[in-house]
Amino acid sequence: MINIKNLEVSVWDESILKWVSLKFELGKNYCILGKNWSGKSTLSSVLMWHPSYEITTWEITLDWEDLIEMEPNERSAAGIFLSFQNIPEIKWVKLSEYLRTIFNIAEKGRNPDFKDISPFLFKRYIKKYLEELHIDEVFLERDLNVWFSGGEKRKIEILQMKLIWPKYIILDEIDSWLDLDAFKTVATMLRSLSSPENSIIIITHYFTILEYIDVDSVYVMKDGEVVKQGGKELAAEVQEKGFEKILN
Ligand SMILES: Nc1ncnc2c1ncn2[C@@H]1O[C@H](COP(=O)(O)OP(=O)(O)OP(=O)(O)O)[C@@H](O)[C@H]1O
Ligand SMILES: [Mg+2]
Repeated sequence: MINIKNLEVSVWDESILKWVSLKFELGKNYCILGKNWSGKSTLSSVLMWHPSYEITTWEITLDWEDLIEMEPNERSAAGIFLSFQNIPEIKWVKLSEYLRTIFNIAEKGRNPDFKDISPFLFKRYIKKYLEELHIDEVFLERDLNVWFSGGEKRKIEILQMKLIWPKYIILDEIDSWLDLDAFKTVATMLRSLSSPENSIIIITHYFTILEYIDVDSVYVMKDGEVVKQGGKELAAEVQEKGFEKILN
């Protein structure tokens, strides 16, 4: 479980998150809603690690460990995965090698006796995922996300999730950039990832993704605070009435 208590974050002395308290339990899915600039991406970045933020008050535990004291690679090894709102491009890192590396690390985390998979066997292993996601094999030879379209970058993120099976999957506007068909492919793959052993945390401005992934709790943020909390009916209420009516 990720348990966040009284999280306060600022950038250049400007307070961005204020007294944020919430929990993410395995086996449950969550949705975080809020108008632009309400602090949703800041919260997800703080959970994964980000250099810009000054975290002034926190009590964030990941299975009883202090999350903020953990390095980003330790957080990843412990099962946190952030699907970025803006996915970075990384030159000189070949996609196939990147995917093989994260796969080997994740497998070793689960089984210390695991021996690194060879490039040849790995290409065979991921073939089924590439087909499911409609990703052409030639992408494997390209640098990570460099000149990929928005939709292609998203699909590569889903592929990463399929390879490492994270415990806490934070989706920061996964529905942006995707055309209708790509959205359906991605949403269906995400649904197949949902299990009692993980937790999917959806940040979105649209609600179609909630037709694919059933959420247990909904948090609404405003000006850096969690101002409302409820079940999935709260998302339906926001969708119907808009933030102004719900929050005032
Ligand atoms: N690294 C940063 N440096 C300066 N200001 C920042 C930084 N990160 C976030 N902010 C500010 O914090 C506020 C919250 O931003 P954040 O990106 O978390 O909002 P959001 O809820 O994700 O919005 P959106 O729905 O538009 O994605 C904004 O006013 C933003 O400009
Ligand atoms: Mg955002």
